[in-house]
Amino acid sequence: MAGDYWGKVRENAAISREIYRMTLDLPEIAAAARPGQFVMMTVSGDEAQDPFLRRPFSVSGMDAAAGTVSVHYRAVGRGTRAMARKAPGDSLRVMGPLGRGFWWDRGLRRAALVGGGVGIAPLLPLARALTADGIQVGAFLGAQNKAGLFGADVLEAAGCRTYAATDDGSGGYKGLVTELLLKVADAQGFFDSGAGDVSVCGSQGGGSVFACGPAPMLRVLTEICGVRRMPCQISMEERMACGLGVCMGCAVSAAGADGVVRRARVCGDGPVLDGAEVRWDG
Ligand SMILES: Cc1cc2nc3c(=O)[nH]c(=O)nc-3n(C[C@H](O)[C@H](O)[C@H](O)COP(=O)(O)OP(=O)(O)OC[C@H]3O[C@@H](n4cnc5c(N)ncnc54)[C@H](O)[C@@H]3O)c2cc1C
Ligand code: FES
Repeated sequence: MAGDYWGKVRENAAISREIYRMTLDLPEIAAAARPGQFVMMTVSGDEAQDPFLRRPFSVSGMDAAAGTVSVHYRAVGRGTRAMARKAPGDSLRVMGPLGRGFWWDRGLRRAALVGGGVGIAPLLPLARALTADGIQVGAFLGAQNKAGLFGADVLEAAGCRTYAATDDGSGGYKGLVTELLLKVADAQGFFDSGAGDVSVCGSQGGGSVFACGPAPMLRVLTEICGVRRMPCQISMEERMACGLGVCMGCAVSAAGADGVVRRARVCGDGPVLDGAEVRWDG
């Protein structure tokens, strides 16, 4: 159940030249959040309330025992730059946990996690949850350069095999993370474990792809998985205004189980959607 809380900042630090991690005391959200869910944060905190609209961030870590929630972010604009100036002890208004997270069933045996840029964030708690369920996980991290890569330590501690790709070759494989996925997954026969029924994650064949990142990366992944009959869940990072399913500002086109294409709200029907259902050309 989502709520609206004051979260006191415990830690807010740059973990690379490009990426920050903020950890806040938010016991209710820490206890309730599932991998793939997000929070809406008021990042201004000043009297001018600028920027006014809250900003969405994936939960990148939740510790129910400590009562803390973490987000990883890149300072790209007014809101995230204001966020980067917050210090331990400051408080922010945070609503969550919101949206539909990743899902899987007991038939899932193997998972490939694919993260592009800050899209790596929601894969960190997902990796922990999957490996805790005894699922074999390979994680593929992509960024423009080495400073944009993060999370390999968390993923490896969770027991995942981790692979990295950068556009400029400054970290890991030089090229797109989707190319790296294809090379490794084809060599290891990962796609042979596809469920066959692309709407089911794990029930039959035991394999699935879970991804978050920029839309072009997600689109390529859904095409790769579609050809190989592999289930693919994608967490979308559309721009959002209300985050509550009211404004339709985050809507994308998606086909339902009945095949009819409708407008799906990323904030409420997602952010995690079945990749096979998304209609990229509207
Ligand atoms: C469900 C969801 C989860 C997200 N999780 C994360 C996360 O974990 N970490 C993170 O850093 N970011 C995440 N984002 C994106 C984040 O919300 C935006 O980066 C943030 O709102 C930018 O706010 P700003 O005020 O700094 O930028 P603005 O001043 O509003 O914009 C600055 C620049 O960023 C671009 N931009 C703004 N929002 C987005 C967006 N959603 N996608 C792509 N470009 C955008 C603008 O077009 C502009 O070029 C997520 C978005 C969604 C919808
Ligand atoms: S952001 Fe308003 S409906 Fe999704």
